[in-house]
Amino acid sequence: MNKKLIAGNWKMNLLPEAALKLISEIQPSSKCDVLVAPIYPVIPIISQSVEGKGIYLAAQNCHEMDKGAFTGEVPAIMLKAIGCSHVIIGHSERRSFYNETDTVILKKVDAALRNNLIPIICVGETLDQRDRGEAREVLDIQLIQLLGEIGAKYKEKEIIIAYEPVWAIGTGRIPTPDQIKDAHSHIRKICNDTIGEENNRTRILYGGSLNPSNADMILAIDDVDGGLIGGASLDAEKFNKIIEIAASLS
Ligand code: PGA
Repeated sequence: MNKKLIAGNWKMNLLPEAALKLISEIQPSSKCDVLVAPIYPVIPIISQSVEGKGIYLAAQNCHEMDKGAFTGEVPAIMLKAIGCSHVIIGHSERRSFYNETDTVILKKVDAALRNNLIPIICVGETLDQRDRGEAREVLDIQLIQLLGEIGAKYKEKEIIIAYEPVWAIGTGRIPTPDQIKDAHSHIRKICNDTIGEENNRTRILYGGSLNPSNADMILAIDDVDGGLIGGASLDAEKFNKIIEIAASLS
């Protein structure tokens, strides 16, 4: 069984003081990995505090190139230089608000890996796609080509996949345990078919309205190796409770 990862996606929240306060209140556990993804400018401000506590540091996005005339963008090489170990790529908010396509996402994942960052690749269907019975097909489109190319090029490098049904993000609605199980086992199969990995070592996180009252149920499902948490990660008490639950399942 993979060690679980509890990852907090802070999105566009928390000024420096609030971020430092939250970090000081998070209680990591040796039984699971813990990660936070703040806004870019906050990364160097909290990097020492997270290192001291054994919490991994991620960015929420990166550019696909390493340098050049791309006003306002931040490359993976910079994230690595300022202390990140991970980067979230292809979050549904980036896919929908910033028109990120699977092609761009593949380039960003490549940029992360060549700069020795672990990408957390977000995938998942919209409500319309689920209602049309296309949930698995969407995962195929988002992952097969990407993992095929990345797997061949970066054989030994770690990647993480986050299954985040778009309709569950920030809505308080979550899929049924069977729906989560089905999506995660489908992603596991895609990983095995494309990367050909042994021991199912790629961690597959669930994301979308994960909170202390449903974490027990969600984190115990087969092939759920942790969670990517938005809203509840901004509240130390809730985030700590989820960490505690993940640790108890190890
Ligand atoms: P949520 O967000 O936990 O607020 O639903 C999850 C995410 O967007 O990663």
